[in-house]
Amino acid sequence: MTGIVIAVDGPAGTGKSTVSREVARRLKLAYFDTGATYRVGTLWCLREGVDLSNQDDVAAMVATMNVELILNPDNPSILLEGEDVSRLIRSDTVALQVSKVATNLEARRILGDWQRAVIAGEQEGGYSEGRGVVAEGRDITTIIAPEADVRVLMTADEDVRVARRAGEGADAATVREAVLGRDRQDSTVVSFHTAADGVVTVDTTDLTIEQAVQAVMSLAKRDA
Ligand code: DC
Repeated sequence: MTGIVIAVDGPAGTGKSTVSREVARRLKLAYFDTGATYRVGTLWCLREGVDLSNQDDVAAMVATMNVELILNPDNPSILLEGEDVSRLIRSDTVALQVSKVATNLEARRILGDWQRAVIAGEQEGGYSEGRGVVAEGRDITTIIAPEADVRVLMTADEDVRVARRAGEGADAATVREAVLGRDRQDSTVVSFHTAADGVVTVDTTDLTIEQAVQAVMSLAKRDA
């Protein structure tokens, strides 16, 4: 892929996914939610009865996964063994366990290689026909695509992040523990709370989605 690469990192509840997807839609780029690769790896291990605390078994399973990504921002989807599991990977069961895969360094290496290939446009069924990709996650600006044309770290105050997730359902205390607890676990292997050199911080605490979209779009335009 010779097009633009826009990398967006940050913790949960910053608006990262909504904004990344909208930017991809407006710029007609592919949209790549890298978190989905950890989620589908988790689902696959659970289905195959692998003990998620067994690091070697998890890494071996992740290496054999048969997954297809649909990178169209209007309908991003993920197929596991041909089955559309886009909704299943968002289930509580997967959400509660995904950190075990995301903190498995060998699994990260395997999934990271796959993510780099997708960002490079080497994945069959690519959507953008070389225009480029918006890739979002936790380590895209730093580890996976540090050479990306645009690198953004989205942040927001903790209370605002929790409130945004609580707004999507469930009670506040449960959501607080789910959001912050997962960030804490994931932070043990990847840093996504402070911007690395050359990465632009977009603090969405007081921004509407449209304002956050405009902030990323203006960085992309400046690069063009
Ligand atoms: O963004 P998400 O909630 O779908 O991410 C799922 C999990 O994967 C979460 O525990 C963070 C982790 N993750 C990661 O470690 N690195 C990424 N690039 C993307 C997600």
